[in-house]
Amino acid sequence: MIQLASRRAAAHISQQWRCKNHLPHRKTAAAATFSTLKTTTPQACTPSLAPLGKYADPSRYLQPHPNNNITPHIASLVGRDLHLRPSHPIGIIRSKIQEYFASLSTSSTADGTTYKIFDAEDPIVTTQQCFDDLRIPPDHPGRAPSDTYYITDTKLLRTHTSAHQSQHLRSGVDAFLCCGDVYRRDEIDATHYPAFHQMEGVKLMSTEAMIGANGLNEEEWLQSPECQLIEADLKATLEGLMDHLFGPTKKRWNEDFFPFTQPSFELEIYHNDEWMEVLGCGVIHEQVLYLSNRSDRRGWAFGLGLERLAMILFKIPDIRLFWTEDERFHRQFKEGKIVEFQPYSKFPPVFKDIAFWTSDKHTTSDNFVENDFFDIVRSTAGDLVERIELIDSFTHPKTGRSSRCYRISYRSMDRNLTNEEIDELQFKVRDETSTLGCQLR
Ligand code: DAH
Repeated sequence: MIQLASRRAAAHISQQWRCKNHLPHRKTAAAATFSTLKTTTPQACTPSLAPLGKYADPSRYLQPHPNNNITPHIASLVGRDLHLRPSHPIGIIRSKIQEYFASLSTSSTADGTTYKIFDAEDPIVTTQQCFDDLRIPPDHPGRAPSDTYYITDTKLLRTHTSAHQSQHLRSGVDAFLCCGDVYRRDEIDATHYPAFHQMEGVKLMSTEAMIGANGLNEEEWLQSPECQLIEADLKATLEGLMDHLFGPTKKRWNEDFFPFTQPSFELEIYHNDEWMEVLGCGVIHEQVLYLSNRSDRRGWAFGLGLERLAMILFKIPDIRLFWTEDERFHRQFKEGKIVEFQPYSKFPPVFKDIAFWTSDKHTTSDNFVENDFFDIVRSTAGDLVERIELIDSFTHPKTGRSSRCYRISYRSMDRNLTNEEIDELQFKVRDETSTLGCQLR
């Protein structure tokens, strides 16, 4: 179960930016959908008891721009700073990774690299930072409002920590680690949550080691000893990181594609009898360096998802647990220690189905965006939603209208749910769903 869950969580690392895994193009979220949502407060959002960070201010995110598709639930997650809490599994993993990179500058094989640490940057970034500086083209599905939370048409919640690469390179930093919360509109199940955490790493090689890199065309560069040196340094560094986190582990490298690196790779580790993808990385694309005014340098970059690693290392079965304030969760973890999570309870789920035509009765043209529906459910029921599954879909042979039926599993991680409270939530979900232009059945 955990293995299966963890494998699916790989989507959170990098799927969005891979060309080979382009998501099907979906239609733009209707802005109107969210204007109704903005007035609702999520029913079952765990209140945060821990001190909130400086970005915890929903009014920064819920702005009256026609392209704003941020829900109150999402706005309430920003600034929780799980990665900065020393005894939170996400904070523990962050420290372990930083500790490994710090050890590289003092180990016997050290090359003198010191990684500057950034872990408190503003999660609001521009489309320039998040996409253009990284060569992600305007028509890339990962930029679509169906996949990304926009504040205005040029400001958004970062979808990956790579959004900070160019700014740090431009300001002259040669090696850094950058950790933070990132946001993506996505499906709902045990391994997908619209907010999660990533760690980005970047290292530029010394100018002396790259002397032969000047004046080469693309093909010559990819074959050059300099490019191969970067690749070898990148792979050795990340293999060392995996051994530091998991103990000596079997690993394998696969070729990959990201617009911002060339060549690009993914690393898999063998854990609990299966291969699992843990990160994406590569040699920084020449043009990314050019756009950051660092054409004179070459180097590597990687990005990894912290939830995925934490779910594997702490055996945490549901991604929502990272956001709970339940003491029974938090008292199990201590700064610097990786321990196996002991489930404190498993309360029974409550299932509710919802079926609707994805257009209203007068038209067959359908603007249904699945992530809009998922956001509606999450905004209404908060973290009580465990999973949403499409259990049936068909097109009526005569009218040509399409219908979908979803099963929503509600389950609290902390208490028993009553049928009445879930009925009430389900009513609200139905009401909100009709604002999507769907006709309930
Ligand atoms: N930003 C990518 C993602 O979230 C992950 C990634 C891949 C980061 C390759 C990198 C990299 O720095 O070189 O999907």
